[in-house]
Amino acid sequence: MKNLSILSVIIFLSVVLFSAFSSDPLTKGSKKMSSLDKKVDELLSQMTLNEKIGQMTQVDIDALKGHFEDIEKYSLGSILCGGNSEIDDISAKGWADFYDMLQSHALKSRLHIPVIYGVDAVHGHNNVIGAVVFPHNVGLGATRNPKLVEKAARVTAEEIAATGMDWAFAPCIAVARNERWGRTYESFGEEPGLAQTLGAAQVKGLQRKKLSDKTSILACAKHFLGDGGTTNGKDQGNTEVDEAALRTLHLPGYISAIKAGAKTIMVSYNAWNGEKMHGNKYLLTDVLKNELKFKGFLVSDWAAIDHLEGNYKSDIEKSINAGLDMIMIPNAPGQDNNYVEFITLLKELVNEKKVPLSRIDDAVRRILRVKFEINIFENPLTDKSLMASFGSKGHRQAARECVRQSLVLLKNENKTLPISKKVKNIVLAGKSADDIGNQCGGWTINWQGKSGNTISGGTTVLQAVKNAVSKNTVVSYSKDGSEVKEADVVLVVVGENPYAEMFGDTSDLSLSKEDVRVIETVKKSGKPFVVVLFSGRPMIIEPQLKEAKAFVAAWLPGSEGAGITDVLFGDFNFMGKLGHSWPKTMEQIPINVGDKNYDPLFPYGFGLKY
Ligand code: GLC
Repeated sequence: MKNLSILSVIIFLSVVLFSAFSSDPLTKGSKKMSSLDKKVDELLSQMTLNEKIGQMTQVDIDALKGHFEDIEKYSLGSILCGGNSEIDDISAKGWADFYDMLQSHALKSRLHIPVIYGVDAVHGHNNVIGAVVFPHNVGLGATRNPKLVEKAARVTAEEIAATGMDWAFAPCIAVARNERWGRTYESFGEEPGLAQTLGAAQVKGLQRKKLSDKTSILACAKHFLGDGGTTNGKDQGNTEVDEAALRTLHLPGYISAIKAGAKTIMVSYNAWNGEKMHGNKYLLTDVLKNELKFKGFLVSDWAAIDHLEGNYKSDIEKSINAGLDMIMIPNAPGQDNNYVEFITLLKELVNEKKVPLSRIDDAVRRILRVKFEINIFENPLTDKSLMASFGSKGHRQAARECVRQSLVLLKNENKTLPISKKVKNIVLAGKSADDIGNQCGGWTINWQGKSGNTISGGTTVLQAVKNAVSKNTVVSYSKDGSEVKEADVVLVVVGENPYAEMFGDTSDLSLSKEDVRVIETVKKSGKPFVVVLFSGRPMIIEPQLKEAKAFVAAWLPGSEGAGITDVLFGDFNFMGKLGHSWPKTMEQIPINVGDKNYDPLFPYGFGLKY
């Protein structure tokens, strides 16, 4: 008996020892290595520490201008185009040529590792002239249509791929709980269910099933965690909730995004109960990477590690050890906290054993795995054939459908809507009736967006009305609403001017004085009028709602204004449902479905039809 047990112990130990030290790369340790992991490990084994840290470095194009050779010199892992970073020729061809120039530098690096290029294509390929601009997520949330949202993301991916780029910093799956927040419009709405279903749809639309397809674009679920839940809706503020509420409200979108195949997640500026997300090891590593088994990589937000306490070196130590894998750096050599400093300081931290080499290897493995999955080693440059569909009619039809389904009808007295196409005389009024910049909102051509005719290829509401009505109809535009005496009906298009991020934070969501004045003027004329509101969120509208015969929440519909007239003239019915509870007053905010004493002007899910 004794000999038998000794023998079994020897056999057991030899099996354990074999598997632990087996030379066969495909059965390293107990876990069976995939061929993908094998490729990653083979490449990793050839890399110097400098090259590994280079892969963890993402640099903005403005910081590289004048020294693009740093791309190969430091073997940079990624390049991004921040909201306000630009090149001279912002046409699709201009961006594609620029991308190929950047990539040609990366391919000169010692190991020829291509960069992945990220861009905030958050409602279409919105930095590029001629791109189709979709409704912002607040409007897509009102569609409640995952298939349509997936289609919108698919079209966006095709337009991104046409410019060579690989990675969209989307979906934003924030759950916006306080409409004072300037980024409310980037969120699908106040309920985690919208982030789950529509966030996953955007991931699928961007990435397709096969990440290696030439029009598959890496998605980036953002911003982890709790960006939409800060106190008073302060951008980059403090989300003060217990862990149960954090998990119930803000985590479901990430679980769905990971399940849908998201390979990158962007960490959020905000803090959770006073601890900055970029230094939160519990949430980034224990919850996201271990509990949720997220196998992709975490990228920081724009210079976000600089917001941690301490100096740049301690910021780097804290964020990398917390679980950040790639750091987004907008600063050039000569500026504080620049990318050369980042590489130097992280190398020091590894040599000082303050950041374990195993952490570096884990981060680089994650990054390389994604690069192999998107097949960028085989196809590093732009496929020029993809340009054919850029800004195409088909793409515009998809956006027009999104606009139609996003519109929410809040009021329609005496069946004022739909307006007959044979109406004799229609006057448009209001600052946004012929302003595609206001129609698109922020993140359009530049970070904050801009009023005026900033993009090409779209249709304003005025242009769309002219195209929709009969040839005998008289259409005119009176911006201040003073010339309406001949009108049978007046269409007043007002709302927010473009903004992004903290510039949209506000304590007052009432209509601007200019908008109130136009509505007052039209009301005095006694003519029946319809208000179309362009806004990134519900606004305080009760006084104006009473006077208007009909009132439509159009959100930030993007380039295809014809989607609005399709519904106003009755070719299509209203389908939109509020993704936010609509407050009566500022004092009611935050007001969210499920609250006690819930008494909004219009409840979450509200939307009238013809
Ligand atoms: C911004 C935003 C983030 C964006 C990033 C790159 O500050 O927070 O959503 O993706 O920087 O532009």
